[in-house]
Amino acid sequence: MRTWIGVLAVALAMLLASGAAAFGGKRGWQRPARPPLPQPVADGDYYDAGQPDEGKVELGRLLFFDKILSGNENISCATCHHALTDTGDGLSLPVGEGAGGLGVTRDLGSGPDAVHERVPRNAPPVFNLGAKQFVHLFHDGRVAPDASQPTGFLSPAADQLPDGLDNVLAVQAMFPVQSGTEMAGQPGENDQADAAAAGDLAGPDGVWALIADRLRAEPDYVDRFVAVYPDVSGAADITYVHAANAIAAFEAVAWRMDQSPFDRYLRGDRRALSSRARRGMRLFYGRAGCGDCHAGKFQTDHGFHAIAMPQIGPGKGDGPDGRDDFGRERVTGDPADRYRFRTPTLRNVALTGPWGHAGAYDTLRAVVDHHLDPVAALERYDRSQAVLPSRPDLDALDFVVMDDPARVAAIAAANELAPVRLRERDVDDLIAFLHALTDPRALDLRRDVPRSLPSGSPLAE
Ligand code: HEC
Ligand code: HEC
Repeated sequence: MRTWIGVLAVALAMLLASGAAAFGGKRGWQRPARPPLPQPVADGDYYDAGQPDEGKVELGRLLFFDKILSGNENISCATCHHALTDTGDGLSLPVGEGAGGLGVTRDLGSGPDAVHERVPRNAPPVFNLGAKQFVHLFHDGRVAPDASQPTGFLSPAADQLPDGLDNVLAVQAMFPVQSGTEMAGQPGENDQADAAAAGDLAGPDGVWALIADRLRAEPDYVDRFVAVYPDVSGAADITYVHAANAIAAFEAVAWRMDQSPFDRYLRGDRRALSSRARRGMRLFYGRAGCGDCHAGKFQTDHGFHAIAMPQIGPGKGDGPDGRDDFGRERVTGDPADRYRFRTPTLRNVALTGPWGHAGAYDTLRAVVDHHLDPVAALERYDRSQAVLPSRPDLDALDFVVMDDPARVAAIAAANELAPVRLRERDVDDLIAFLHALTDPRALDLRRDVPRSLPSGSPLAE
């Protein structure tokens, strides 16, 4: 009797063990692993450990808002990256030099100085770009550190780029001032526009020297440059590089954003996120696959991906009529990079619509839905959401690509993002998580707007 019980017990134990092995094995059920979360953001992630010289930051703030940097003295960096419009401009595509007004109230100007064309890409927010890991600037990454270049940076200016630029953010600040549509103006209107049209950036009468001349003529600016830079002892020493470095210092400090509920959660405050946002976070880093590209502390792999975003606006000059934007291919020359754009960071993303490299989507829901089935979303794109001040000749160019089935098919064919099936509720949770990426400091940026400028330029847009 006893032996029978013993045999039975052994058999039972073996059965259980084999069952457990089956469940614990490769194909069996396992508790879903908590997806790994990024490390919290720290001071050391930023240039100058997050504490550049205060005088330099203040100088940069004034310059960022000063129209003295533009050819017709009618537009500043802030016009398209204003503190009152969350460091973007609230439009799908900016209208630059010649227009008036701020954000969605911006018009297209009038008379001979009226806007000539829309800027072909969405004005990105400037949040956290003072973090050292943001090495690719612009939607196609055409500004980046590059040891093979004499200046240490890849940029559209190639060999003309001067030495002495602090970082990529400063390199970036060299370019809006030489763009006719953004800040320089049209040839014939002013010297800066003429130099820009002739491609003369670095010469003695080039774009950067002409701006430096204007700054040298403003005593209050001269005092500030002298106070900040050891190599500036008088007006004659001021260059646009000094201005660009100050602008970069301002952008880096003022718009550092690492106090969102998600940031607090990563620092150990388990109650910082609502249960809904926590579920969204687990989806983001788990089943929804968002964290594959929106990876790391700042939720970007700093890489380039084709995700079939709708292409609206006048285009970057690519394709048969110039209406396409080939994205990363424009920088690498590699057709495999066609329609690839940089993965954006997502801090404050709920505040920075419209979204996508051409600002095609006007709600967070629409841009998230796009990711869940990119090709289907491209095909059913609702163009009524584009936020573009209207004028018939400009409007006529806005949907040339979307009206051409062959081009839409080409954008769709390049898509690398596989559809994900999520329930309505899951999408709501994901969006709750995206809202938890908002740093409360970003809700009111009025403090960043100067009350007056050393040049006396108007602050009104
Ligand atoms: C007319 C609108 C306009 C003006 C004026 C303007 N920008 Fe921009 N800015 C843009 C657009 C559009 C882009 C994206 C262009 C691209 O990716 O090709 C951009 C990109 C940037 C970026 C890169 C952001 C990123 O995530 O890569 C920074 C930084 C920036 N601008 C700062 C400035 C500064 C500094 C100035 C003044 C010197 C300035 N901008 C003037 C529209 C503007
Ligand atoms: C294959 C890489 C990849 C994956 C996976 C991915 N994204 Fe993106 N995401 C991108 C790229 C690239 C862009 C910019 C595309 C463009 O502008 O053309 C983008 C843009 C966005 C934007 C707009 C940001 C802005 O500033 O305009 C949001 C919001 C966003 N993604 C959220 C998500 C969410 C949520 C998920 C998961 C459901 C996700 N992404 C998955 C690559 C990816």
